[in-house]
Amino acid sequence: MDKKIVILGIETSCDDTCASVLIDNKIITNIVNSQKIHSNYGGVYPEMASRNHLNNISITVEEAITKANINKKNISAVGYTYGPGLNGSLLVGSIFAKSFSYSLNIPSIAINHMYGHIFANFIDEPIPNFPFLCLVISGGHTQLVKVDSFNKITLLGETLDDAIGEAYDKIGKMLGLKYPGGPKIDKYASLGNNKSFKFPKANIDNYNFSFSGIKTAVLYFLRNKPKNFIEENINDLCASIQKTLIDMLMDKLILAIKNTDIKEICIGGGVACNNGIKNRLYELKENMNLNIYIPKHEYCTDNAAMIAKIAYIKYINSEFSDINTIVDPKLKY
Ligand code: KG4
Ligand code: ZN
Repeated sequence: MDKKIVILGIETSCDDTCASVLIDNKIITNIVNSQKIHSNYGGVYPEMASRNHLNNISITVEEAITKANINKKNISAVGYTYGPGLNGSLLVGSIFAKSFSYSLNIPSIAINHMYGHIFANFIDEPIPNFPFLCLVISGGHTQLVKVDSFNKITLLGETLDDAIGEAYDKIGKMLGLKYPGGPKIDKYASLGNNKSFKFPKANIDNYNFSFSGIKTAVLYFLRNKPKNFIEENINDLCASIQKTLIDMLMDKLILAIKNTDIKEICIGGGVACNNGIKNRLYELKENMNLNIYIPKHEYCTDNAAMIAKIAYIKYINSEFSDINTIVDPKLKY
């Protein structure tokens, strides 16, 4: 019988310490140790994130291996995120992964975090057909990409200022919601009327986005409002803000669909968990005759399963990385 291909995936680009084991193209374990401490600061505190990764990395990897019921000696390769992300956080995962692979004399495979979010759509069936369009929406990124193959990704547009998740979280803070505000705004939005308040949409050329304007608009809007205004209007406020954010995403996506005639549409990244976005995509599916792909919740937010998945594809193509590969916080496609 052929030897099984066993991949260990490691992801530490931001504040989640993640490890995953994949066996023969199937995710077996997907462990995420989230660092709750950052919610006290209203955002990710980089120095604290890297120190916590140091504390968590061994136990997280151990848990992924033990729960997968495998022996370390049977691991074929280690895939790890080498960028983009926070420098210190990336360093912890990459040094751990390279040392681990060196000690077992197996290859290491450096993976671009953004590829992870895109190809999270390949973990479960049905998988998209090439070429497809993907909105990569998270706390750190907002991009619209065209994907022609595993190795050919074209960045069509991206945010010129804040990422959409950052806008969600910062507006959440203005509304008195604890970090991360995104999921809380989504929840309140489902109970509110999205036509109650009007916020301006940014009007940016091409496929680029801008989310800093709506942040300022909400800040000014809330100024001088009566004491209980937010509390009394939280559902309608969240619904109206969320509608504006989603409109901005959809405008660019629709433009790209019309210009490329591509009907295969994916999303990825933490903000892809948003129910309002999912509902709008399903509406669009009907109106424009599209195929929509949305990864499971656990594969949208940062995770190592998506890293293991790409490492597997690279492993079978013998695309290994040099042990001297260094992290790149600003890594591009
Ligand atoms: O991909 P991710 O886990 O980490 C980054 O790489 O940034 O994304 C985290 C972001 C946070 O900004 C969080 O507020 C947002 O994803 N998020 C959501 C929802 N769930 C997570 N934003 C809007 N609606 C949600 N349901
Ligand atoms: Zn991410």
